Amino acid sequence: NKAVTIPALNARRAAGDKIAMLTCYDASFASLMDGCGVEVLLIGDSLGMVCNGLDSTLPVTLDEVAYHTRAVARGNKSALVLADMPFGTYATKEAAFDNAVKLMQAGAHMIKIEGGAWLVDTVRFLTERSIPVCAHLGLTPQSVHQLGGYKVQGKTTESAELLKSDALKLQAAGASLLVLEAIPSQLGKEVTELLAIPTIGIGAGPDCSGQVLVMHDALGVFPGRKARFVKNFMEGRTSIGAAVSAYVGAVKDGSFPAVEHCF
Ligand code: KIV
Ligand code: NA
Repeated sequence: NKAVTIPALNARRAAGDKIAMLTCYDASFASLMDGCGVEVLLIGDSLGMVCNGLDSTLPVTLDEVAYHTRAVARGNKSALVLADMPFGTYATKEAAFDNAVKLMQAGAHMIKIEGGAWLVDTVRFLTERSIPVCAHLGLTPQSVHQLGGYKVQGKTTESAELLKSDALKLQAAGASLLVLEAIPSQLGKEVTELLAIPTIGIGAGPDCSGQVLVMHDALGVFPGRKARFVKNFMEGRTSIGAAVSAYVGAVKDGSFPAVEHCF
């Protein structure tokens, strides 16, 4: 497989080819997912919840994300490696740069930060210094206490307009990708049409440029309730490789997400 780069992701968006992203936390799964055609491996701060048993992403540290990023980078050959900046590690643009450097040195090709207009200067500061940035809008889990829970965002006209203006500002500041989490499908479509960079949805409808799921969710490994946007690709399959390939196929042919996964 050819290396997945930012120009390659832009070319997929331009051609209308969907981008398949999954979270990944270790070398073995990185090798498997890369081999199945997953184009972006996200070392999500969700690792605090799915690997470490925490009940939010807030306690996750930079060293923990760096550790998992090194592992994923070792197992990966051609996917783009995207690492989350943990809560509190990008409060100023200078801190963001110092911390992002550590994740890039651990093997990330791009870092992801959660938030809107307040991050414009940070995105510019990082991208001017050769650190590619993925922005993240909608339900931003690091803001769970400010949002009052894990709730669908952008349901009012006012919040939808704010999200669109944030997306445009982050793109203008140099963001290369935008994750949209838990927003109405119509808003996911509008943001995707408004922007030139690819959007990656998780509970943001079928019209985003690509999709992402937490790997444990995609493989049916989760305790308790499952979110509306989750689909278990192990169902009816007998190997993890077959499930990951089915996820990639369903993203590419547009059969995932279906209406029952959307808001
Ligand atoms: O941490 C994570 O897994 C994420 C994705 C759900 C987008 O940020
Ligand atoms: Na995350």
